Amino acid sequence: MPRTREHTDFGFRRVPLEHKQALVDDVFHSVAGRYDLMNDLMSGGLHRAWKDALVTAVNPPRARPAPAQEAKASARPFALLDLAGGTGDIAFRVLEAGGGTRATVVDINADMLAVGRARAAGRGLDDAITFVEGNAEALPLPDRSYDAVTIAFGIRNVPRIAAALGEAYRVLRIGGRFLCLEFSTVDVPGLAALYDFYSFNVIPALGRAVTDDAEAYRYLVESIRRFPRPDALAEMMRAAGFARVSFQRMSGGIVALHSGWRL
Ligand SMILES: C[S@@+](CC[C@H](N)C(=O)[O-])C[C@H]1O[C@@H](n2cnc3c(N)ncnc32)[C@H](O)[C@@H]1O
Repeated sequence: MPRTREHTDFGFRRVPLEHKQALVDDVFHSVAGRYDLMNDLMSGGLHRAWKDALVTAVNPPRARPAPAQEAKASARPFALLDLAGGTGDIAFRVLEAGGGTRATVVDINADMLAVGRARAAGRGLDDAITFVEGNAEALPLPDRSYDAVTIAFGIRNVPRIAAALGEAYRVLRIGGRFLCLEFSTVDVPGLAALYDFYSFNVIPALGRAVTDDAEAYRYLVESIRRFPRPDALAEMMRAAGFARVSFQRMSGGIVALHSGWRL
């Protein structure tokens, strides 16, 4: 009997599941150098507020006055893993918010990581961050080793979302928190029409002007429309083992911040 090939969405196209990652990689190879500038232009700077909400939820411990010698020996830094961390934005924000934090940024795309490494060096944060080229679906990292695992605007691009959620769960310490910031579903009627117009007309044109790649930004807006609704993603998080799963919509549902704990 012929085996049915598994397919998935790449924007509005259906593609064989095993082809999606290479298509996604092409998008981010193409835009890496202009990725951060485009985020500011497309969102009018709003992505900064969304990311701040994520960092507040991570709640990294603030630097304390130097502890006594024996306490110092046992203290270990708060360990953050930022998945699909690209150019390092989330890791920088968490490190700047929390004193003794160590961050690991995993991304599958060497070009995005190269921009991240250069930015980390420019900020003097390179000692506190490790950049790892790897797939969120199969992390080259030990079990139960992080206090928080984050993924911002990344999970939508990962072909096997359930596998990535399972890996996030595996590497979290007991008591650790998973936070996922992702575009979501705008249900406010007036805003939805405006958002659609902006997404399908303005964003690809902006992408063409800034990165010379309208298609990459067409993929962005299409992939947002195909991404599971927040309650469906919450269900996938529960299936991966997370407890106390919740989500918070922001900016009329343009994005949602998902949270789950490993208990
Ligand atoms: C929209 S960018 C988000 C970057 C960063 N988190 C931010 O918020 O600015 C999506 C990132 O997901 C990465 N990515 C896509 N598939 C991945 C996978 N399977 N494993 C790890 N990273 C992946 C891409 O290379 C890209 O850097």
